[in-house]
Amino acid sequence: MTAQTILVTGGTGTTGSRITARLRARGVDARVASRSSACRLDWAEPGTWAPALAGAGAVYLAYAPDLAVPGSDQVLAAFTRTAAAAGVRRVVLLSGRGEPAAQQAELAVRAAADAAGLSWTVLRCSWFVQNFTEGQFADAVRAGELALPVADVVEPFVDAEDIAEVAVAALLDDGHAGRTHELTGPRALTFAEAVAGVAAATGRPACFRTVPFPAYAAELAAAGVPDDVIGLLNHLFTEVLDGRNAAPADGVQQALGRPATDLASAVRRSVGSWV
Ligand SMILES: NC(=O)c1ccc[n+]([C@@H]2O[C@H](COP(=O)([O-])OP(=O)(O)OC[C@H]3O[C@@H](n4cnc5c(N)ncnc54)[C@H](OP(=O)(O)O)[C@@H]3O)[C@@H](O)[C@H]2O)c1
Repeated sequence: MTAQTILVTGGTGTTGSRITARLRARGVDARVASRSSACRLDWAEPGTWAPALAGAGAVYLAYAPDLAVPGSDQVLAAFTRTAAAAGVRRVVLLSGRGEPAAQQAELAVRAAADAAGLSWTVLRCSWFVQNFTEGQFADAVRAGELALPVADVVEPFVDAEDIAEVAVAALLDDGHAGRTHELTGPRALTFAEAVAGVAAATGRPACFRTVPFPAYAAELAAAGVPDDVIGLLNHLFTEVLDGRNAAPADGVQQALGRPATDLASAVRRSVGSWV
């Protein structure tokens, strides 16, 4: 284990906040970095990067809003080079499974890290369970109905706590360098099954309904969601969610020596924030 400051980008977000809590519980100096944090970091403002990185030995990389945004690979490669120049020795990248742009970002970070002599680990994750309980779908689920342009495709939703536990191991322990951990939940579920599972675990009724993408997009546009975000969602729902990620992977078992957490347990674990 290395004694050092760890910079947690996206440190106020779904995975970053969990990683920060786990690091601090182990007595590690975790520095939260985002646009709204005391340590301000904006991916769109390279001038904020070096001050945020000063004195850090390792970095958790969670790009926002999404690795699918064009140019994320270039931003992350440039950030990795800045990190190396600031004295960082290790980077851990949060990535998405079966997403061409995310895999391109992985390659860019790996190449920049290799060139600068940094060790890297990639966490290639399926969709998070927490999308239903605290992410972009939470309000709809809480209101009793989630309507999305997706039908019977299955996804092995992963618990963000599992991701955080693997990230902490990769940040602190030797043995994860140069590895890509494919992190999923233990079982592939349809979105209807996932929402039913959330309802059962929370005791609050909720159901799922499939809507055509144009109707979904029109609803988002009426609610003021920008066109580029709608385009991103179109890419996610029509291209990424085509069944390519249906098979669960054993990355949690490989990295932690225990099975991945199932959806019901994951929801119960975050039930405090839900209620
Ligand atoms: N959700 C999923 O199912 C899923 C699956 C696989 C991979 N991913 C990947 O997960 C990443 C997001 O991580 P997450 O879900 O842990 O975070 P999140 O909950 O989406 O929160 C985003 C975090 O990034 C910060 N942020 C937003 N815009 C920023 C900017 N311009 N510059 C710097 N920081 C910014 C936010 O804080 P501020 O608002 O304070 O800046 C917040 O800490 C994306 O790259 C996505 O591709 C998500």
